[in-house]
Amino acid sequence: MTTAPRSVLVIGTGGREHALALALAQDPAVTAVHAAPGNPGMAEVATVHDVDPMSGDAVADLAASLDVDLVVVGPEAPLVAGVADAVRERGIVVFGPSRAAARLEGSKAFSKAVMAAAGVPTAGSRTCETAAQVEAALDAFGAPYVVKDDALAAGKGVVVTRDRAEALAHAAHCMSREGGRVVVEEFLDGPEVSVFALCSFSAADGPTAYALQPAQDFKRILDGGRGPNTGGMGSYSPLTWAQDDLAEAVLAQVVRPTLAEMADRGTPFVGCLYVGLALTASGPRVIEFNVRFGDPDIQPVLALLGSPLGGLLMAAAQGRLGDVPAPVFRDGAAVSVVLASAGYPESSSKGDVIDGVALAAEQEGVDVIHAGTARDGDRLVTA
Ligand code: AMP
Ligand code: GLY
Repeated sequence: MTTAPRSVLVIGTGGREHALALALAQDPAVTAVHAAPGNPGMAEVATVHDVDPMSGDAVADLAASLDVDLVVVGPEAPLVAGVADAVRERGIVVFGPSRAAARLEGSKAFSKAVMAAAGVPTAGSRTCETAAQVEAALDAFGAPYVVKDDALAAGKGVVVTRDRAEALAHAAHCMSREGGRVVVEEFLDGPEVSVFALCSFSAADGPTAYALQPAQDFKRILDGGRGPNTGGMGSYSPLTWAQDDLAEAVLAQVVRPTLAEMADRGTPFVGCLYVGLALTASGPRVIEFNVRFGDPDIQPVLALLGSPLGGLLMAAAQGRLGDVPAPVFRDGAAVSVVLASAGYPESSSKGDVIDGVALAAEQEGVDVIHAGTARDGDRLVTA
């Protein structure tokens, strides 16, 4: 077995994938980074390939033709669609969960069931299929109401509100789709943090995990958090105000029991388990699981990572994470600030010229990370 990958293919187009490509390019063992479909920023550190990230066959064909040592699948949609399975079936090493394990993000009801079985601290919840069940659940938990679409909804599935009519309307909207269900849950009060766990599984040793340094992201646009929710406007790490053993506590209370439960079900989890937590008065409680790195919350974490990323992801993907040292982080702090196009998040403006990027990138300690950009001749524009 290879210990560190020489060549890696990153799947995705976003800031998360650009940050992964940058960190992989800085791994001394990695001599070639490829990306599909990538973005103009990634094209500066990787060879980009115009391949559909949602097609398992197309991704596996590309990985085979490039003869890469490792494929890293960035976003949740291809994982939930089974792209990692298609790559793994060709005998190619892939960092990212199977379709079955990606249900931890793909179905809120499934992830709540796994948390309950594993004894993971989380919000009390009920899965509902009818308006009467929703009414009863709203009564049971009280305001503020939390109503979540069971299915993957690209950040638009959750409504947190004191307005009962709004909660009911969101539930009705989600349940109006074929097989639509919602999860109604208890409101968790406390600062939200992100803990990313690199997860590995082997039949001989069972699950193994390492936690990365915790981060925090901010979803509301405008100064002072006055605007609507977005995909994320910025993030930072480390959390100097949080308990020192937060990552260890999350590994012990959340990640290891979840990985054991997934292994018991015959669907071991391999990849990044993103634990979104509320630090409540009664301790950390899980708000949600994602099955991939956070965007933009992984960016500052990767900027501070002192260990070679390729070796870590490869070891996790091969079921031998315990054979490599736990990740270490540099002293200091990193902050990620998102610059969005006019109108975001309601709409976005395409084709606006972006300048100043080269100047920003020249600054000491600054990385410019792209998401939603395109080349128009020699100009960089919003897309
Ligand atoms: P999710 O898609 O599950 O991450 O939810 C999106 C956002 O809704 C989270 O980042 C939280 O800010 C909020 N949220 C979700 N569940 C809860 C909860 N049980 N209590 C309070 N806020 C929540
Ligand atoms: N940072 C939020 C997310 O990636 O879902």
